[in-house]
Amino acid sequence: MRTQVGIVGAGPAGLLLSHLLALRGIDSVLVEIRSREYCEARQRAGVLEDGSVALLREADLAQRLDRQGLEHGGIYLQFAGQRRHVDFRALTGRTVTVYAQTEVVKDLIARRLADAGPEAIQFSVTDTDVTDLDTDQPVLRYTAADGTRHEVTCDAIAGCDGFHGICRPAIPPELLTVVERDYPYAWLGILADVPPSTDELIYAHHRSGFALHSLRSPTVSRLYLQVAADEDIDSWPDDRIWAELQDRFALPGWELRQGPVLDKSITPMRSFVSAPMRYGRLFLAGDAAHIVPPTGAKGLNLALADVAVLAPALDHLLHGKTELADAYSGTCLERVWRATHFSWWMTTMLHRTPGADAMEAQLQLSQLRYVTSSRAAATSLAENYTGLPFP
Ligand code: FAD
Ligand code: PHB
Repeated sequence: MRTQVGIVGAGPAGLLLSHLLALRGIDSVLVEIRSREYCEARQRAGVLEDGSVALLREADLAQRLDRQGLEHGGIYLQFAGQRRHVDFRALTGRTVTVYAQTEVVKDLIARRLADAGPEAIQFSVTDTDVTDLDTDQPVLRYTAADGTRHEVTCDAIAGCDGFHGICRPAIPPELLTVVERDYPYAWLGILADVPPSTDELIYAHHRSGFALHSLRSPTVSRLYLQVAADEDIDSWPDDRIWAELQDRFALPGWELRQGPVLDKSITPMRSFVSAPMRYGRLFLAGDAAHIVPPTGAKGLNLALADVAVLAPALDHLLHGKTELADAYSGTCLERVWRATHFSWWMTTMLHRTPGADAMEAQLQLSQLRYVTSSRAAATSLAENYTGLPFP
């Protein structure tokens, strides 16, 4: 078999890339180890930068997003018994949109299958392998769901297979520079069948640890609690989770509504950047190349921004022009490092480090007072949260 671009991974990066390439008349084969149902149900991010929304609109993928996405003009920061609003709209003229990653993925899968037929995405494959990456004809191999082995000769391969994928490890390790930090805590996230108790997201600093109130729709809430890095989910029955959320969000005159828990999981917190994002004809995009802790709501947006840069770069490369492909890694890494800094900054301002001295909390509280009272500091937060201009 032959295709122009082999794509590994049907997360937001791989799916959007296959669509952007199709808009440019470029064929791709997209392989995914999980089933369609699994990909569409995996609970992850929830906030789109306005640049991500514009990108999806330009690619004619935003019909449902425009109907169901919830535009938010700011966030709340809660600390020391007060809840302060950071007004992105007033500070920057920009907003973010709450629209779950599950919905972005459903929209992208439906569109690819409608445009290119049921074979366009190979779900439930096994034994994915990429070779000949330093030649002009890299090869993608996989075993399809029906057990048949396939070998696809490509002009380029996109590694969109997330942090635990096979593409980054296919690059000789001596050619990669990896910069990494693990945080000594994790997030326990729940999806709850209850209308949100807030109009915009609440990021709460609390002596017991961070908490976040997000949402998925007018009837479904998404909430997170900082827990220990090695926390066992079985020690968090629903009533313990709600009691902790009630404590961390408590504010006189405000009530946190409770409801049935639909999903519950623990996510480790990590900053990770692997550079360059290219080896020969293999290009990495999204979590395959970089991870940020979720406090800045950046992971999904970075994945979309990478492939917005990659699609024209591959188009040029396929026509013998190498300039954009050569610039790909450097262009993406500038945005990645800004998001990495912002996500680290939000994380360390809001979480309690186990064993921290009294200095940490006082410095955090001072910073929180500053970003909620200085227009300059608030504008910096707003500019980073709503995102850099898109490629
Ligand atoms: P992914 O979405 O990880 O997609 C990669 C795909 O590749 C997957 O479908 C995987 O099954 C597939 N794959 C892996 N290996 C292979 C293989 N060998 N062959 C074929 N396919 C393969 N960000 C936020 O902003 N807020 C959050 O709350 C948040 N929560 C998160 C929770 C978790 C558990 C994780 C892992 C991430 C979270 N993120 C969050 C980050 C955000 O969801 C990611 O940045 C985003 O999914 C990146 O998209 P991607 O397409 O690069 O990678
Ligand atoms: C989410 O809705 O899942 C979400 C929102 C904001 C974040 C992280 C996660 O910073």
